[in-house]
Amino acid sequence: MDTQSQIEYIRDHLDRSIVVIGLMGVGKTRLGKALSSALSIPFQDSDDEIEAAAGMSIPEIFEKFGEPYFRDGEHRVIRRLLDDENAQVIATGGGAIMTAATADLVWEQAISIWIKAELSTMVKRTSKNDNRPLLKGGNSEDILKNLSDLRYPTYAKANIMVESDKGSFDEIVNNMISQIYEYLQ
Ligand code: S3P
Repeated sequence: MDTQSQIEYIRDHLDRSIVVIGLMGVGKTRLGKALSSALSIPFQDSDDEIEAAAGMSIPEIFEKFGEPYFRDGEHRVIRRLLDDENAQVIATGGGAIMTAATADLVWEQAISIWIKAELSTMVKRTSKNDNRPLLKGGNSEDILKNLSDLRYPTYAKANIMVESDKGSFDEIVNNMISQIYEYLQ
């Protein structure tokens, strides 16, 4: 079946939001936005929503209130987004799914997509800005490797997995679409 027919099928049958998970720098926002526009459904970014609700940036939240406070806010934001009865694509921050209560919501209420990339890809992409508090304390390659070991078993519970550094951008988006289509069958 061609991609356009798969998109139509998904639009007719999608009764849940699609949540994008994966480590920092894999391209969750970029791919999530492309998926939402292909499906003509809204896009939300949980990090942006947390910043808007707090009226400050993520580094400021970490610095002033600490990570547990950030995780609470992240949980509330994701719960609110998932409560919306309209299906949307929600890109989450890399650690969101490691909060058990947030993971419960995502596994139960959404279709989850794990976006995965090689360590070198994540290192390169995250080096472009310094807005990630967890990467500030040391060598980003070591930190991302440790986070991979810690988080991959949880990410692997997602309904769908795509690799963001294999193939062209369009191929990756089409791969997500065909896996969502198959998931909904
Ligand atoms: C985090 C990832 C970040 C952001 C925060 C913590 C993490 O989002 O939520 O800095 O724990 O992996 P991105 O994955 O969009 O960079």
